[in-house]
Amino acid sequence: MVSIKFSLIAVCLAAATTNAQLASWITNETSIAYTKMYANIQPSGTVSGCVIASPSKSNPDYYYHWVRDAAMTMKVVVDQYNTTRAGDSTLVSMLKNFVTFSRTGQTEYTRCGCLGEPKFHVDGTSYTGDWGRPQNDGPAIRATALIKFAYSYIAQTGDVAYVKSKLYDSALPTYSVIKADLEYVAHNWQSTCFDLWEEVTGLHFFTLMVQRRALIEGAAFANYLGDTGAGTSYLQQAASILTSLNTFWDSSNGLIQTSLSSSSSKTSGLDTAQILGVLHGYANDGQFSPNNDKLLATTYLLKQRFQNLYPINYNNPTYATAIGRYPEDVYNGVGTSQGNPWILCTAAFAELYYKAAITYNQDGKIYVTSNNLNFLKQFYSSATSGAIYSSGSTEFTTIINGLNAGGDAFLNTIKWHANTDGSLGEEWDRTRGYNTGAADLTWSYASFITASLARAGTPAF
Ligand SMILES: *[C@@H]1O[C@H](CO)[C@@H](O)[C@H](O)[C@H]1NC(C)=O
Ligand SMILES: *[C@@H]1O[C@H](CO)[C@@H](O)[C@H](O)[C@H]1NC(C)=O
Repeated sequence: MVSIKFSLIAVCLAAATTNAQLASWITNETSIAYTKMYANIQPSGTVSGCVIASPSKSNPDYYYHWVRDAAMTMKVVVDQYNTTRAGDSTLVSMLKNFVTFSRTGQTEYTRCGCLGEPKFHVDGTSYTGDWGRPQNDGPAIRATALIKFAYSYIAQTGDVAYVKSKLYDSALPTYSVIKADLEYVAHNWQSTCFDLWEEVTGLHFFTLMVQRRALIEGAAFANYLGDTGAGTSYLQQAASILTSLNTFWDSSNGLIQTSLSSSSSKTSGLDTAQILGVLHGYANDGQFSPNNDKLLATTYLLKQRFQNLYPINYNNPTYATAIGRYPEDVYNGVGTSQGNPWILCTAAFAELYYKAAITYNQDGKIYVTSNNLNFLKQFYSSATSGAIYSSGSTEFTTIINGLNAGGDAFLNTIKWHANTDGSLGEEWDRTRGYNTGAADLTWSYASFITASLARAGTPAF
């Protein structure tokens, strides 16, 4: 009896220490991630408002401003401006520079000839070499970021004049960045474009999700500024996008497909883009929320695939699963051979688990369906389809605790593979685990920060 009791205490102490160490590391790493993310915003040698994807200039050359990556990064900046760094003049000038840079990009010559031009040089001119264009997710994410900036800036300064001249002027044709992005999204979401990985042309779940959110938030913002005709039309388009999004469900395979495309080689249909689509595109209206049962079905299948695909996963069962973009990936960070797990994808899984827990808590119940059953059984093996577990029940608490521990396990995977100085690249070698691909990838830092904020119960917008 004595020895059993003793070993139980030892196990509990070991677990507690591990959790505390992880929490301490997450605190440290979040601070490193902020520092290194900000280092990639208008670094010396670039024009004001430029956000580089990575300082890496060769093998691979990511020393460009990508509209999508930059918008996701500036969302984190806006989130700080809206919360812990409200009133910070450094952030205001950084954000205003980003507005100017973006507006220049909207108006100058681009080979795309549209706002879906994906990539700009660090001097602000557009990249004119061959590329996958257009990419219509960037303008939508940028609109979401800048709408939040506009509300925060008005709340903090009362300077409506700046917002009405530079951000949203209600004019057609427009001279302002948010209005231009919203008009572009409203008129072009039905057209095929390249996906967020810049490889497949078609209609994409991720792109439609962020477009829908931009139009819903854009409608409220247009109405707030008195442009109610635009508000009505943006909402109509958002409703049509939802109809399109619902067609991505593949009922025979039980997953949300990543693209509706005639040219995709992704036979599985699985892609972490669906998770990113919900993280960046959820409009807080119950449609495709972080605890959507079809999304959780997709999440479960993805995790199983990656667990069995990468040696660093199946050789290290104590650590959670390192997550890649999609199973068929052949990009290795420099060229093509075999795809690797990505840091931002692993952080996205962590963030989704935390946000699913937050959303279930808001709902006050967990409804088990045939779609989310396998996902939920990871945390509560006796879950049964059709059951409803109410807040306060043992089942509910077990699943919420499991989700939060599951999120932590993904961050522990990042801890395990991060460089010793806390820097994060783009990918980890699938066999040996070292960082590979672009060093100091801006989006890796942004995704770690948003996962950490969700873990703390203060998710970014
Ligand atoms: C976090 O940083 C503090 C201060 O630099 C250091 O003492 C501590 O060991 C770090 N924690 C982890 C888990 O790395
Ligand atoms: C944060 O953003 C919301 C709009 O989403 C706004 O109402 C609020 O005033 C902002 N807070 C600050 C401190 O900027």
